[in-house]
Amino acid sequence: MTVAALPASHPLASGTTAESPLVAALDGRPGAHRPVWFMRQAGRSLPEYLEVRRGTQMLEACLNPELAAEITLQPVRRYGVDAGIFFSDIVVPLKAAGVDVEIEPGVGPVFATPVQTMADVEALPHLGTAGDGGDFDAALEPIREAVRLTVAELGSTPMIGFAGAPFTLAAYMVHGRPSRDHMAARELMWAEPEVWDALVAWTSQAAGLFLRAQVLAGASAVQLFDSWAGSLSESTYVAKCQAGSRDALLAVEDLGVARIHFAANAGHLLVQMGRAGATALGVDYRTPLDEAARITGGAFPLQGNIDPAMLGAPAAQLEAHVADVLHRGSSAPGHVVNLGHGMPPHANPDVVKSIVEQIHSHD
Ligand code: CP3
Repeated sequence: MTVAALPASHPLASGTTAESPLVAALDGRPGAHRPVWFMRQAGRSLPEYLEVRRGTQMLEACLNPELAAEITLQPVRRYGVDAGIFFSDIVVPLKAAGVDVEIEPGVGPVFATPVQTMADVEALPHLGTAGDGGDFDAALEPIREAVRLTVAELGSTPMIGFAGAPFTLAAYMVHGRPSRDHMAARELMWAEPEVWDALVAWTSQAAGLFLRAQVLAGASAVQLFDSWAGSLSESTYVAKCQAGSRDALLAVEDLGVARIHFAANAGHLLVQMGRAGATALGVDYRTPLDEAARITGGAFPLQGNIDPAMLGAPAAQLEAHVADVLHRGSSAPGHVVNLGHGMPPHANPDVVKSIVEQIHSHD
């Protein structure tokens, strides 16, 4: 593998974030303290988010560089977490490519036309290659600008870039909206394998180019979110989805940043997710971290896995749960503390702050 240098001004290449607790833990090196960030830390649980979002549609906010940077920074300022997660959405690269999709409040992504036939896949916008100056590359400029603005403010705190995994993206596109069990997508895999493979090839390319744009603009690590992979058996995951995730993650392999792979409800997939181009694994709250380390042979730094439902528990119980997560996480070669899935919209910011303090004061 040739390691293409990141731009010299990149925060990882220049050394600005290289010794941060997050980057150290993801490299399996000891750091100043156990790092913590939260999936969905930027968003509806913060009053300052609701304030700046007033009157702006979700995807409009994602494509406004100043606003996306401000929202990414809000939880870092408030909580002192060890990373900013880029404020965007898994459907942003699709929107940027020209796909007709909106995010409906309280629902999620809704597509004007579901993608179900080969003609539908062939009608998807052409994506091109990274840096080719084509339409998609140009449409990613607001993303690159938002990342540049964000990392300039973050200084030594790394920003994590992300993308939706090809399966989760494809499942949204086949159904045209959120679905309970992703049945139409899971049926398409077997009924029309060529259509499925072509759609996953497209979503992998979109996800890979989205990740690459964020890394080149300044992200020090990436996370691939496979929200729905847990609905698949291990053999179906391997046969129909794993290669797409690997393509998306390996799109940034030459840039040398850590690649975190997270799926919800997916304890049974951890080993195979590790073979999909990941350098670290996100573990949801159902699988204890020591168990996850054992299953994966101690080969991966792990991220997780405070149960989001515990945020409302009495303080002593929450503290004991966080202590248990820290203890179990010690059995992995590196541990990044996170929730075991996204922050609930009604999470109390003061409780979240107290968790960060507890983690940072842990030896
Ligand atoms: O703080 C962060 O984690 C950064 C930003 C982020 C958002 N979405 C912002 C957002 C990230 C990483 C995502 C990823 C995402 N988006 C996923 C994968 C993660 C997961 O939860 O499994 C998925 C499945 C989506 C699709 C999506 N976008 C859903 C299901 C929703 C919720 C719709 C609703 O209103 O209930 C969204 C909207 C969304 N994405 C919001 C935010 C802050 C809420 C929109 C708002 O505030 O109006």
